[in-house]
Amino acid sequence: MLITAVHTHLLHHDLEKPFQSAFSTFHSRRHMLVEIVCDNGLIGWGECLGPADINVAIVKMMTPLLIGKSALDIEPIWNELYSQFRDQGQRGATLTAISGIDIALWDLSGKFYDQPIYQLLGGAYRTQIPAYATGGFRDPSRDRVQSLVEEITGYVEQGFKALKIKIGFGMATDIASIKAVREAIGPNIMLMIDANHGYDLSDAIKIGNIAAQYDIEWFEEPVVPEALNNYRELRNRQPLPVAGGETWHSRWGINEALKQQCVDIIQPDVCGVGGLTEARKIITLADIHHVRLVPHVWGTNIAMAAGLHFHAIIPPAPNAHEARSAHFEFDQTHNPFRSAIVEEPITHHQGIIKVPNGPGLGVTIIREKLAEFAPKP
Ligand code: NI
Ligand code: CA
Repeated sequence: MLITAVHTHLLHHDLEKPFQSAFSTFHSRRHMLVEIVCDNGLIGWGECLGPADINVAIVKMMTPLLIGKSALDIEPIWNELYSQFRDQGQRGATLTAISGIDIALWDLSGKFYDQPIYQLLGGAYRTQIPAYATGGFRDPSRDRVQSLVEEITGYVEQGFKALKIKIGFGMATDIASIKAVREAIGPNIMLMIDANHGYDLSDAIKIGNIAAQYDIEWFEEPVVPEALNNYRELRNRQPLPVAGGETWHSRWGINEALKQQCVDIIQPDVCGVGGLTEARKIITLADIHHVRLVPHVWGTNIAMAAGLHFHAIIPPAPNAHEARSAHFEFDQTHNPFRSAIVEEPITHHQGIIKVPNGPGLGVTIIREKLAEFAPKP
């Protein structure tokens, strides 16, 4: 099964209403898929996290290294791509590009062997994953607390048992938001906060100490990801479990944070950390360091399917009768192509998602939808 072509697909939607995290304003949704075609007619799909247009450029630069190779030689291809781009590319767009290619190769491999990816990766510990709703971004046109409470109440009504809101909009606003959300959802819904590195150490310590009374499951990306020492110090100076890792790419990036004891919960994204090949290695690192692994997920149903296969193979830690299963991040923000591009849209029922069990990723692309959501020139 030799690779004959590599295609990239941009998907774009202009948002009618922009939304904000601590540091950015989303005016559109723009994601990027990788398609790998083989000489036996099989096609694999992957997705890259991060700046879509840069991913397109890097995947195009990597394409000559792929043509003529066996799509089943996933590890050798990973090593070749990484080593050819290593000198300037140890994290960031090089890794997000490799991730999309790697996922497409696993999809091909699954189709070739007629098995779901989780089976090829050694088998699933679980095929039903509890999900949490990711939302609670800021609507700049509305009152923060009121719009937030309205939105998250909707997630609880949909059956989600866990949800994550954005903070990083100023100490007083954030504390008022967290308090109002906890009062609105009651004591039995899991609640996480994500600062998108919008705080410095001192303010993050204050927020963590105040927010603890509202039973927060984790405090995500409290400070900038370069500040590994601040992460470590934050863990010692406030009571909330600290989470992070969506920008610490590759086994080396993740390992540095784990070695320095930065987090209680490590959050690699399969579309950023280096694909499923690298994500599998992160499972070993998290195991060795005894850190909880809860993947980050952000993208279309291709990214979500890859994330679900990753979730399926994460061992329970510790192994126990009532072992906890890492919750799956289910982005609830407006994105009309997220599920429209596949024949088997990924949905939840009462907050539970089934891992696709068809060959490869287990989802089938609808090409007309790729055309419909292609960026207009
Ligand atoms: Ni729209
Ligand atoms: Ca995040």
